Amino acid sequence: MASAVATDFTNQIVYTDEVAEFSPEVVAEMESHLVKYPAERKRSALIPLLFVIQRERGWVDNEGVNFLAKFLQLEVTDVWETATFYSMFNLRPVGRHHIQICKTLSCKIMGEPEITDHICSKLGIHAGETTADGKYTVSLVECLGSCGTAPMMQIGFDYYEDLTTEKVDKIMDSLK
Ligand code: FES
Repeated sequence: MASAVATDFTNQIVYTDEVAEFSPEVVAEMESHLVKYPAERKRSALIPLLFVIQRERGWVDNEGVNFLAKFLQLEVTDVWETATFYSMFNLRPVGRHHIQICKTLSCKIMGEPEITDHICSKLGIHAGETTADGKYTVSLVECLGSCGTAPMMQIGFDYYEDLTTEKVDKIMDSLK
C-alpha cells in the first residue's frame, strides 16, 4: 500500500487566536451574503460564509473560524458548532479531489463496501486518508440525499450515482 498522510483532524488542529486575513474583494463577497439576512440574525449567513472560507483557505481552519466569529460577532464555538456538524466542511486539508463515499444504509446495502475497497485499493490509502501527492482524499460520509441511486459518491460538488467498480474506474480516469 502506498504511503499516505494520516488525516485524523483532531490530532492535527493547532488551536490559535490568529485571525485569517482576506482581500477586500473576498470581504465584499462575504458582506454580500450578510445583507441577505436580517441584521439581528447574522448567524444565518454562517453556511455560505463557511463555504467562502473553505474556498479561500482550502479547508475550514482555525484562523478562518476566528475571522468568521469576529465578522459575525459570534463566539468561536458558535462557528465551530456549524462547521463540525456538516460533512461538506473540511476540517483538515484535503486532496485536490475529495472523494466522499456515502456509507449510509441504502448505499451500504447496494454495494458501498465494495466501492470503497475498490477506490482505496486503487489509491493505496484507507478511507479518511489523503494520497502522499495530495491529489486524492477519500472520506466516508453520511447520507448525501441520493439514496434512490445508491451506491453513490460526491467528488467536489458533483454527484456520481449507481456506481459499479467499472464506472468508478472511468470516473477516476477522468479526474485530472
Ligand atoms: S444512503 Fe447513500 S445517499 Fe442516502
